[in-house]
Amino acid sequence: MSRLAAPLRASSRALGASSKVVASSTSRALLRPAARNATRALSTTPARRGAAPDPMTGELFTLPDINPNNLVIKKNTNPKAPPPSNQLAFGHTFTDHMLTIPWDATKGWGTPTIEPYGPFHLEPSSTVLHYAQTLFEGMKAYRDDNGKVTLFRPDMNMKRMNNSAQRLALPTFSGDAVLELIKKLVALDKHWIPQEPGHSLYIRPTLIGNQKSIGVGPPNEALLFVICSPVGPYYAQGFKPVALYGTTEFSRAYPGGTGAYKLGANYAPGVLAQKFAATKGYAQNLWLFGEENYLTEVGTMNLFVVLKKPDGTTELVTPPLDGMILPGVTRDSVLALAREHIAGQKIPDLPDNLVVSERPIKMAEVQQAARDGTLVEMFGAGTAAVISPVNKVGFKGEDIHIPTGEDGMGPLSRPIWKHLTGIQRGAIPSLWSVEVA
Ligand SMILES: Cc1ncc(COP(=O)(O)O)c(C=O)c1O
Repeated sequence: MSRLAAPLRASSRALGASSKVVASSTSRALLRPAARNATRALSTTPARRGAAPDPMTGELFTLPDINPNNLVIKKNTNPKAPPPSNQLAFGHTFTDHMLTIPWDATKGWGTPTIEPYGPFHLEPSSTVLHYAQTLFEGMKAYRDDNGKVTLFRPDMNMKRMNNSAQRLALPTFSGDAVLELIKKLVALDKHWIPQEPGHSLYIRPTLIGNQKSIGVGPPNEALLFVICSPVGPYYAQGFKPVALYGTTEFSRAYPGGTGAYKLGANYAPGVLAQKFAATKGYAQNLWLFGEENYLTEVGTMNLFVVLKKPDGTTELVTPPLDGMILPGVTRDSVLALAREHIAGQKIPDLPDNLVVSERPIKMAEVQQAARDGTLVEMFGAGTAAVISPVNKVGFKGEDIHIPTGEDGMGPLSRPIWKHLTGIQRGAIPSLWSVEVA
């Protein structure tokens, strides 16, 4: 059976059983029938790693998947000293080793190799350089006070990476095998993981198509690689709420597009939009969609809005996974923790009368809530910052002010952030922490 399901279902399933996706009729209506059919068609497409025709007979034969038992380790004979933790800038420093796994359309996945971090040889004709055949993941390893190294829900990253690979017609792979290899890489470079609170090792698995001839199509060669970078806390001097620009001039995603996948091609066009927001005095884009200005995501994070309801409940709202939203690991974790709290597994200081909604939310509703005084807070959620509070949204020439607490956080984001980071640091035991042997 194919490991991959239709992207729309897969993106929600990738979030685990804890996340029931209630795609509303509005959000479903955003997907045109053609787009729905196309994504369904993808689900029945055999994974590209599955089989290839014999050049002589045309008979299909099975291609090898990634096999961690074949791992070759070429140790770096010139290792560097990790820089002091207080000098780390996000994504600038890389560890001594990287993992590479080549793929060939006729031979399948090749030998996984851990080798010294260094430049690749890429031909100028490589398709990744022309047609953006590249996708990636972002995940973190943490080292606790006792030196134990853990990854946070890495299976989710592997599933999402395979969904992205299928969407780009790049080869899919055994997520378990790549995870086993990532653990070997992290174990080898574990002295690079800063131990100070809020620090971690950012892991960047990437897959590129590198057919050496120009032409748009599924590449006959690909390369999966993983690099690691030690990082400090996103907010080194305490939480700093961000001001968002409600963006109507640019779109991040649209029905039938690729917003639900972590493709390089989704990010480059966002740079101009981000610069545009900055010229107007805002830190990030609040990505809106359609004439009704549905809220979708913030910068490169998922979005949460908290509202006080007339019946006295507090509603935690996030847009549904309708094909335009990246199914974030942090998004899913926030939802799962809130739902567990409602079900009785209490999170200290989280309000009791909580309701969790995955539903479309328009700017008009946010504006009204701000006027009524029922807008409680707004925050972004993602691997890099974990939780990023918002204090202002500029929309059509007006600023909507969003409440934040003295520490920059709000009544829901603060306890959820504490709990999530407690799990990541190893202070709160959880099945989400996966130990690197
Ligand atoms: C567009 C976008 N949305 C959301 C997220 C958050 O996803 P995650 O929580 O898996 O990091 C990211 C970051 O990876 C992102 O790039």
